[in-house]
Amino acid sequence: MKTLSADKWSQYWQKGTITTFHKKFENNYDGSIKKHWDDEFSRLSTDAQVIDLATGNGALLGLLNQYASSEQYRIAATGVDFADLHAEFFEDFSALELTLKQRTAIEQTDLPDNHYDLAISQYGFEYADCIAAVDELSRICKPQCRISFIMHNQESQIVREGFQSLEQIELVNKNLGLPELIKNMVEAIDKYQRQKNEKSKRRADKYRDKLNNAIMKLREAASQYDDPSYLQFFHDNALAVFNPAMSGNMSVKEKLQVLRNVDKETRSLIGRMEDLTSVAMSDEKNTLLINQLKNHKFSHINVEQLQYNGFHIGQLLTAERN
Ligand SMILES: C[S@@+](CC[C@H](N)C(=O)[O-])C[C@H]1O[C@@H](n2cnc3c(N)ncnc32)[C@H](O)[C@@H]1O
Repeated sequence: MKTLSADKWSQYWQKGTITTFHKKFENNYDGSIKKHWDDEFSRLSTDAQVIDLATGNGALLGLLNQYASSEQYRIAATGVDFADLHAEFFEDFSALELTLKQRTAIEQTDLPDNHYDLAISQYGFEYADCIAAVDELSRICKPQCRISFIMHNQESQIVREGFQSLEQIELVNKNLGLPELIKNMVEAIDKYQRQKNEKSKRRADKYRDKLNNAIMKLREAASQYDDPSYLQFFHDNALAVFNPAMSGNMSVKEKLQVLRNVDKETRSLIGRMEDLTSVAMSDEKNTLLINQLKNHKFSHINVEQLQYNGFHIGQLLTAERN
């Protein structure tokens, strides 16, 4: 599996975003997702112990805090993540008795035995080794406990778009070789402007033709995707070096730096999309997880699709032990 390391996740959360979805859930999960969690939290007794697995910047604990505030009681909650947790993002959770365990893998938490009534996770549990994580979960949860996880799965719109982003990156960078063509073109125009001779003109014309051809293919490809956002990003940033309104005063060195920045963003996106698409639940991974839950005496195991604004955005897995 091509998954991100704890260090990479720590760098990611440092940016301060609440969730990993800047466009969809900028201010935390809402709609059907929030409703699921509010329903889940409404089952809790006032002395319940809750654990959030792979807590990130605390989006789910934020929803628990909102729920507890609205009910005017305090809930004991623990957030675990193998990345660094940034205390400042959790300090407003005044309705929670909060314990944070950073740099702690779900598979080995060092938390006490038989402690938790409810284990929750939002796009988190599937990142761990599910077999080892259920062993650990079974140890730290009370004999009568409930688990409730929202998880990425292979058929969801989010994961489909993840696969499509990887395809778009491959098209732009490998198949069309656009970064190299743009770099060659920038350098060829510069040479022509300095030398003004036939040879440098022919070279610049050659790259212009190749580049125009590739851009045409890029535009044709954009129509095939539900969300052509990587193609758009590349178009708006890398190709901006030819837009006088945006780069008219830039030196060649500065234009090449723009291309390096685009490359850095692209690499980071590849890491996140490979991570997302490789952890997503498949039928096979679900079967393994369900069997492991059964081994630990979990019953009422239910896996269903989760819809959000008409889109399939993952799966909901719930189970109980009693
Ligand atoms: C997609 S984020 C979700 C974070 C948060 N639950 C949310 O919904 O915003 C996945 C999180 O899983 C954490 N993670 C990945 N593998 C883990 C593991 N084995 N143990 C603990 N945390 C892990 C990452 O550090 C990251 O914070």
